Amino acid sequence: MVEISTSLLGAKREKIVETIYDLEMAKTDYFHIDVMDGEFVKNKTHDKMLEYCEYLNHVTKVPLDVHLMVKDIKNYIDSYQIFNPNIISFHCEACKDEEEVQEIIKYAKDKVRRVGIAIKPDTNIEEIYKYLPYIHVALVMTVNPGEGGQMLIPETIEKIKILSEYREKNNLNYDIEADGGVKLSNSKELIDAGADILVSGSGILESKDYAKTIKELRV
Ligand code: DX5
Ligand code: ZN
Repeated sequence: MVEISTSLLGAKREKIVETIYDLEMAKTDYFHIDVMDGEFVKNKTHDKMLEYCEYLNHVTKVPLDVHLMVKDIKNYIDSYQIFNPNIISFHCEACKDEEEVQEIIKYAKDKVRRVGIAIKPDTNIEEIYKYLPYIHVALVMTVNPGEGGQMLIPETIEKIKILSEYREKNNLNYDIEADGGVKLSNSKELIDAGADILVSGSGILESKDYAKTIKELRV
């Protein structure tokens, strides 16, 4: 069954305690933690996300799915590994070359359970083929990284299909995560394309009934 990872990026700070409680009751499979450094993307969310992770660590067992949109990847892996996240994903576009990507995969594997590589919408899928045997999650950005509430870019669905076929053909077992603009209107298409984890922020947080939305996203 497809897993749902709710992004807290758009959660209202003053209501975060209640929001986290309600999302746990609604059976989100992960909390998706969007870490932005103000350099790889223009927004900065690190302080807010650290605060949320501190709190989450005390109140829930729901696993963390950390998405690093940062340049200094190792430093941020160190900052978030203390929360024992289930997944940490980093952007291959933040690395200068293949060697650095491989080095960070190794570095991350020592510190967290599952390591993911994230790719922006305009990065060719071929860019990450060489890493797929070594990672646990391929995070396909279905919007441009940097903010919540955007529309899903339809062309990105093809990338999920290609990754799914590639996994089959090469007998690999990474999970495929779709991140950005995921709504009830497109979740079936993403699942049919091969997505295993759907990240949704506004699609869930702006809905009246989190449990109903999460259930219906799973189709
Ligand atoms: C965008 C983030 C996404 C985003 C998802 O840079 O990586 O996780 O917050 O939020 P929605 O579902 O509102 O697009
Ligand atoms: Zn994200």
